[in-house]
Amino acid sequence: MAEKPFLYDQWYVCARSPEIVHDVMARRICGVPLVFYRKADGAIAALDDRCPHRKYPLSQGVLRGDDIECGYHGIRFRPDGRCASIPAQEDIPGGFSARAFPVVEKNQLVYVWMGDAAKADQTLVPDFFENSDADWAPARDYLRIEANWQIILDNLLDLTHLTFVHKSTLASPGIQENPLVVTVEGDTVRARREMLNVPPAPIFKTIRAFNGNIDRYQNITFTPPNHVHIKVEAKPAGLADDPDRVHHVVMNHLTPETARTTHYFWSISRRMRIDEPAMTELLGRLNRMAFEEDAVILRRQQEMIDADTEGSPLVNLAADKQVNEARRILRRKFAAEAGA
Ligand code: FES
Ligand SMILES: [Fe+2]
Repeated sequence: MAEKPFLYDQWYVCARSPEIVHDVMARRICGVPLVFYRKADGAIAALDDRCPHRKYPLSQGVLRGDDIECGYHGIRFRPDGRCASIPAQEDIPGGFSARAFPVVEKNQLVYVWMGDAAKADQTLVPDFFENSDADWAPARDYLRIEANWQIILDNLLDLTHLTFVHKSTLASPGIQENPLVVTVEGDTVRARREMLNVPPAPIFKTIRAFNGNIDRYQNITFTPPNHVHIKVEAKPAGLADDPDRVHHVVMNHLTPETARTTHYFWSISRRMRIDEPAMTELLGRLNRMAFEEDAVILRRQQEMIDADTEGSPLVNLAADKQVNEARRILRRKFAAEAGA
């Protein structure tokens, strides 16, 4: 694991759009306590939650129009962090402000930039269009995981665990038996596994009445620092073109809360039967069930890593090829930030 726990010059998913309303919401990102709220014009403000006066949490205060009023001595701050008023004095000392963080909203996700605001380039925000496009039907949710974000990344990039961890949903023969073809293009790592003529995993039988074996495909894309996009397809074995094929994507965003806890924003969005709310509910529920199984594994794994006072390294095997490529890119980014 890299020595420094977080990269800062990055856009991090910090909320799902509906979570942020015209009210204060506290959430810690990369160890930093933040307060979020939506302004009257719909834009989102993000400030350091520690009031610059005496460090009382601003999230314990109230909104006054688009300003936030600290609940301790009533000092008000504007959405850009500048102090608006101090009850006990007329003059506002120069430079007295709360730190504001750049925020962007895209595809029903809210992103915050945790590093140097001058580098917060909005064109770097990834495009998870399946979360908001009219041709797709997403189920979205959130899970807080008691583990470091990088071991969750490992979990998503090595899906050989499906066979052992997700027996009631995603497991089927054909996963270990077929190679994962890994390619690296710049900072993106892609991996594809084709599983031809295999029995359907339980989740596929729930989605569609398959009579026999299926052809199953996994396409996993890692985008630094913490996004994993998994495209899943399945059709009756040997059928060349199947308009009714199972086709969905699972999008995962692993935002560090602390070095030992992670905000796990996920969605499962499908391209088939998009006008069936019951299908949205079902896929969301099955996915949640699987991710709750991961959460238990990851918490136990983190406890054991913490208990290893000698810090012996993790071991990489053949199935960790994509994991290794992703970690290599992250190490490069950590080094670049340290150098800067
Ligand atoms: S601590 Fe916020 S106003 Fe004093
Ligand atoms: Fe899993």
